[in-house]
Amino acid sequence: MSDIQYLPGKEPHPCEYRMIFKNIDRAGWDPSIDCYLNDGGYEQLKKAIKMEPQAITNEVKASGLRGRGGAGFPTGVKWGFIPPNNTKPVYLICNCDESEPGTFKDRYIVHQDPHQLLEGMIISCFAVGAHTAYIYMREEFPEAATIMEKAIEEARAKNLVGNDVLGSGFDLEIYIHRGAGAYICGEETGLIESLEGKRPYPRIKPPYFPAALGLYMAPTIVNNVESLCHVKHIIEMGGGGYAQLGVARNTGTRILCVSGDVQKPGYYEVEVGKITMGELLNDVCGGPKEGRTFKACIPGGSSAKILRCDESFTIGQGDAEQSLSFFDIPMDFDTIAACGSMAGSGGVIVIDDSRKISWILNNLNSFYAHESCGQCTPCREGSMWMKKISDRIVGGHATPDDIQTLEDVAYQIDGRTVCAFGEASSWPVEAIISKFRDELTAETSEDNDDLSEEAKIQLQFISQ
Ligand SMILES: Cc1cc2nc3c(=O)[nH]c(=O)nc-3n(C[C@H](O)[C@H](O)[C@H](O)COP(=O)(O)O)c2cc1C
Ligand code: SF4
Repeated sequence: MSDIQYLPGKEPHPCEYRMIFKNIDRAGWDPSIDCYLNDGGYEQLKKAIKMEPQAITNEVKASGLRGRGGAGFPTGVKWGFIPPNNTKPVYLICNCDESEPGTFKDRYIVHQDPHQLLEGMIISCFAVGAHTAYIYMREEFPEAATIMEKAIEEARAKNLVGNDVLGSGFDLEIYIHRGAGAYICGEETGLIESLEGKRPYPRIKPPYFPAALGLYMAPTIVNNVESLCHVKHIIEMGGGGYAQLGVARNTGTRILCVSGDVQKPGYYEVEVGKITMGELLNDVCGGPKEGRTFKACIPGGSSAKILRCDESFTIGQGDAEQSLSFFDIPMDFDTIAACGSMAGSGGVIVIDDSRKISWILNNLNSFYAHESCGQCTPCREGSMWMKKISDRIVGGHATPDDIQTLEDVAYQIDGRTVCAFGEASSWPVEAIISKFRDELTAETSEDNDDLSEEAKIQLQFISQ
């Protein structure tokens, strides 16, 4: 990788390990197929297409790759859920909705290295037996859609997509499907409904696990853009070779998108778990802004529970028990989960001491209240109530009781909704209240009127 030149000012940090982002901001690089082929592109497809499909799945399982879209579910295991006696068509969907606030990696892959994604997708389709694949692209990525359309046509012209891929007898069509711009279209079953031309109401799981009952009720593999790119590298390195990167159960590399109150926000690809939160924020991202200190961090996209930068965590059991400060946390799925949050989509949102936590809370609540699809009552009503209460806190109208009510509403959402959006909206509230209760309470007053202006108007109507 040392011979690669990057654009001035865009050079990777020495702590980075660029694999998926190898070509991002590379000097002389363009997204054309010729550029990609000159760099050894599609060689892994040529290798994979001669393998048994099951052998590819086995390599992906051996690699330990975990999905980069949010849940961190093992990719090879997911592929193995396609029913063995299936007689229906199998579909593969690339999730390019990238709607989780704080996450901005998939767009760069599609903009600058579309053929890496296509190569990963074609290999994945061959492995799972899919002859039709879709790239579900969020509405806000118009340029990405144009780039990807061009890339597909370039690949078709080279017999990498279409009938009889590379003379193998394998047929594959890849279509772009533009979303209409909704966060819930990133949730895989909402995405599938949207792809079928319907309102994106998520489906209940079970029974609608996409690998068994997905698009048109046929087996469907939904994977994130970054996850699918990794498949190409797994073929190149072998599953075992790939698993040498990162740490146990948290293999490979991942792209962390750092935003907020750091000197150098941006995207950084690192070996999973090989870098700590402190190294990421202080060394790679240059530390806090002038005269500021780090206050809190949301480590995996806005749905992840907030962590205080001054807290410490006890993780593991027995001899493996250890105490970690916030800055000691290795950036891997399991440790971040053990610390009570999640690595999620890799969107690391940093908050310094200039920010009021009530503002963060209200910003998150506004997003979730706006984006709830409205299918289930606890989420539809709860997300709106949470926003109304945090509106009152930031507006200086809340009483201390409001904090308790807010917490109660959040806990009433958990586990009572069709999809994980419910928890995505309630977890941030629960975590912010549990970690910043004093700061929030300080913004309330017993003297405040207990009722919002809207509630007062409603009461007037009732009493008339
Ligand atoms: C509310 C919600 C929004 C989501 N948005 C995205 C998204 O924008 N992109 C994505 O890849 N996954 C998103 N996911 C996760 C997908 O449902 C699914 O787990 C993922 O695409 C699977 O790919 P992976 O296994 O490669 O991570 C979202 C999940 C939820 C609950
Ligand atoms: S949890 Fe929210 S987003 Fe998910 S189906 Fe229910 S209302 Fe829709």
